[in-house]
Amino acid sequence: MGSAVTVQSIGPAAAAETTLRAAAAKAGLFFGVAASPGRLSSIVGQEFNQLTPENDMKPSTIATSSGGLQNTGNADTLVNYAQTNNMLVRGHTLVWHSQAGALQGANQATLNTFIGNALNRWGNRIAYWDVVNEALDDNNTGNRRSQWPHTLNRDANGDGDLFDTGDTDVIRDSFIRAKQVVQAGGLTTKLCINDYDVEGLTVRGGVQNRKANALYEIVRNYRQYIDCVGFQAHFNDNPNSIITDDLQANIQRFADLGVEVHLTELDIDDDLSNNDIGAGQAENYRKVVRACLNVAKCTGITVWGIADSESWRSSERGLLFTGGSGNYQKKAAYHAVLDELNKGRDVSTDPTSPGTPPTPSASPSVTPSVPPTTPPNPTTGCSATVSLNSWTGGFVATVRVTAGTAPINGWTVGIALPSGATVTNSWNANRTGTSGTVQFSNVSYNGSVNAGQYTEFGFQGSGTATGLTPVCTAS
Ligand code: XIL
Repeated sequence: MGSAVTVQSIGPAAAAETTLRAAAAKAGLFFGVAASPGRLSSIVGQEFNQLTPENDMKPSTIATSSGGLQNTGNADTLVNYAQTNNMLVRGHTLVWHSQAGALQGANQATLNTFIGNALNRWGNRIAYWDVVNEALDDNNTGNRRSQWPHTLNRDANGDGDLFDTGDTDVIRDSFIRAKQVVQAGGLTTKLCINDYDVEGLTVRGGVQNRKANALYEIVRNYRQYIDCVGFQAHFNDNPNSIITDDLQANIQRFADLGVEVHLTELDIDDDLSNNDIGAGQAENYRKVVRACLNVAKCTGITVWGIADSESWRSSERGLLFTGGSGNYQKKAAYHAVLDELNKGRDVSTDPTSPGTPPTPSASPSVTPSVPPTTPPNPTTGCSATVSLNSWTGGFVATVRVTAGTAPINGWTVGIALPSGATVTNSWNANRTGTSGTVQFSNVSYNGSVNAGQYTEFGFQGSGTATGLTPVCTAS
């Protein structure tokens, strides 16, 4: 970005919180950390309100070859610590090609046994479980991995996907099992799918993120079993691992499916040698945290370790603290994250709202959730409303299509964009055109809307898109 832009006042002046967990809690999300028992210094409970065992709940530690449990001591230590310190726990992870230990090569029945044993062992003490981890291939192919456990997959009708009746899919079958266990036990544990290089709508060079699209299709098809999606968010200079401006739009499109979205393993390479990932580590952290805050269903962020020296990628210096062994110092990135969390989800540009005067900042000014531009029409047919997240030079629009007093079986929404505004991506709709009046119509799964109910689609654009007035026609 060429020039400094302005972050506007942020509502009534309130004392800023001084820890990540307090600031996050006020904004309505958790801020967590990955840890091992050897890293449970006081900073963990002070700064974080969610804990992910970095290695101690992986099958390589806790699974027997028949799907039983073993060596659960470290996991118990972490769960107990979390409970004592009022932290949520993310169980990590049940079905994964890596660190599979004695489960390596197991069939679905054995995986199911393990899923049941692990879920029941900790029950509601675990708020979120990563049921399936890293199912998708590298290099932006959009394919599933080919190694075990994905060798269990069968595309029965050979149509190139695993979503048909008759197909076998280890993802679906593992989630079905996990959901059964949750329901049978009356558990509140939420079931997540977790992956990396799925963060943006695009990767380097504006290329479509096929891995993200493949994950999206999985969540959309298995929505009934999947409660949450984890973007690992290990950001670095690799072409598919960079921070893109459409991170928020991608979080939003998953959120629009109704799942919670989490950034589950956040670290950001501080290597600025080729400046590929942006303006500096602290600003990059700010940008990523802001993208989550701007989407209501982005309900948590977890950093993958406390200090750089103790990180799995220590050479990237990607975390929020320096130091080590319980003696930690806050980095600029820490202060940026705390400041951004303290601004909360509602960074208002309303000039009448009280608060501190605008301060110059290198970060985008963001306008979440503008009120609907037209009220829902309580008649037959349909009506549409738009809420807009805007930043300098771009926006994401979420469009809600509401049926009138009768059900509808299809819809078209026309939106006249101001000159200079161009649609760059859209989801949950077919689209005609990119500028001027753009037409959106339902896709196969969201055309039927019951009386008074609604469905949502979204699009991302460049330029400015104020005063949008959608026109809905039912078919
Ligand atoms: C990493 C741990 O941080 C390391 O200590 C371990 O040696 C290897 O695994 N994606 C994941 C995490 O889902 O489980 C990985 O954790 C990092 C990448």
